[in-house]
Amino acid sequence: MDTSAEPSVDPSSPPSPSPFEPGRLGPLRLRNRIIKAATFEGVMRRGAVSDELIDFHVRVARGGAALTTVAYCAISKGGRVSPDTMVLRDELVPDLRRLTDGVHAEGALVAAQLGHAGLVAQGHNRRNPSIAPSRRFSPAATGVLRAATEADIDDLVGQFAAAARVAADSGFDAVELHLGHNYLLSSFLSPNLNKRRDEYGGSIENRLRFPRRVIEAIREVLPDEMALWAKFNMADGVAKGLWLDESLPMAKVLEADGQLDALELTGGSSLLNGMYFFRGDVPMKEFVAAQPKVIGWGVKLYGPKLFPKYPFEEAFFLDFARQFRAELSMPLIYLGGANERATLEQVLGEGFSFVAMARALLRDPDLPNKMAANDTDHGLCVHCNKCMATIYSGTHCVLVPEDER
Ligand SMILES: Cc1cc2nc3c(=O)[nH]c(=O)nc-3n(C[C@H](O)[C@H](O)[C@H](O)COP(=O)(O)O)c2cc1C
Ligand code: SF4
Repeated sequence: MDTSAEPSVDPSSPPSPSPFEPGRLGPLRLRNRIIKAATFEGVMRRGAVSDELIDFHVRVARGGAALTTVAYCAISKGGRVSPDTMVLRDELVPDLRRLTDGVHAEGALVAAQLGHAGLVAQGHNRRNPSIAPSRRFSPAATGVLRAATEADIDDLVGQFAAAARVAADSGFDAVELHLGHNYLLSSFLSPNLNKRRDEYGGSIENRLRFPRRVIEAIREVLPDEMALWAKFNMADGVAKGLWLDESLPMAKVLEADGQLDALELTGGSSLLNGMYFFRGDVPMKEFVAAQPKVIGWGVKLYGPKLFPKYPFEEAFFLDFARQFRAELSMPLIYLGGANERATLEQVLGEGFSFVAMARALLRDPDLPNKMAANDTDHGLCVHCNKCMATIYSGTHCVLVPEDER
C-alpha cells in the first residue's frame, strides 16, 4: 500500500495488536479484530428470514471473522429500501434466533444493522412512503419525499427503539446504527439534504439532534451485555454535503455523549454518489440488467453521474479515518478497502480497534482463517463491484463458482 502519508512510529509505543488477538468492543469480547461489514444479502423475499440468510452468516462465522453484520434491517415499512428489506419486528424473533444461534455455534458474534432508508428508499413504497429531513425529489423513489414533522421524528425515535428491542430478543450481540451513506439519519447530518429551520436543522448541534435522540432511545432498551456502535459518514463525497470540517466535531459530540461503544467510519452517498464508498470498477451493464426496465433506463441515463468512477486503492479511507483517530479517544472501527494482512496490521498499529471488511469476505469468507494460519497474506477481491448488482438475487462474488458458495 501507499505509505507516503503514514505517521511516524514512536519507538516507545507498545507493539500493535495482531489481527488475530481478541479485543473488547464495549461489553463484548471478539475473538479477533476482523468484522464482516454489512453487505445487503438479497435473500429476504418480502423481508422474511430465509435459510439462505442464515447460511450466509454462518458461512462468514465459520471462515473466522469475529463478528458478522446482518445488513440493513429497517425499523419500519416506510424505512425499507425495497420490498425485500427486512423490517425488524416481533414475528421474526424465532427465525432470527436460528440465525444468531447458528453464528454463535461457530464461535462468532453477530450485529444487526438498523436504519431507515429515507431518501434512498425505492419507489415501491407508495403505501408506506419514506420521509426526508426536507422536502426533496429522490431519484431512488422516483418522486418527491415530504419533510418529517416533529411528530414524525418522535415516532421514528420510538420505532428505532422498538426495532433494537427486537434485535435484543433475537439474540443479537450488537446493534450497528446506520448513520452513513445518506440514509435517513445520515441525511439529517448533511447540509445539502437538511434545510430545516427548526431545532433539527442548521447548526451542527441541531442536525445531530435526531440521531442523538435515536442513540439515547436505543441505549435505553438494550441490555448491558449488548454493544451499540454507529456506521458514521466522515464525508458524503458530494459538493455541499457533509465533510470532515463538520463530521469531526459531530463525532466529538457523539464521543462526549458516551452512549456509543465505537464508531465505524465510512463515507459516500447511496443517493448521490454510489461509488464513493466502494472505489474500483463501475459495473454499469450489470446494474442496468439487474433493474426493472424503467429503472434500468434511468440508471443508463443518470448512471455516469450517480456512479462516478474512483480508482480502487488499498485502505482508501485511511487518510480521512486518521484524522478521527487523532481527535477522538473512543474505539474506532476502520472500514474501506482492507484486503491485505499488512493493512490490518497497519490500521491496528495506528490505534484502530477493529477492521471491518466487506468485499474481501464476500470473495472469500475463509480469509480470516487463512490469514491466521499464514496460508495467505491478501484477499482475492479484484474490485470489479459486480457483486453490487447481485443484491437483487442473492448477494455473492461473481468469481466464486456456484457450487462453492
Ligand atoms: C454487495 C454489497 C452490499 C452492501 N450493502 C450494504 C448495506 O446494506 N449497508 C451498508 O452500510 N453498507 C453496505 N455495503 C457497503 C460495505 O459495508 C462497505 O462499506 C464497502 O463495501 C467498503 O468496504 P470494503 O472495501 O471492505 O468492501 C455493501 C457493499 C457491497 C459490496
Ligand atoms: S464481485 Fe467479487 S471480486 Fe468483484 S468486487 Fe465483488 S467480491 Fe470483489
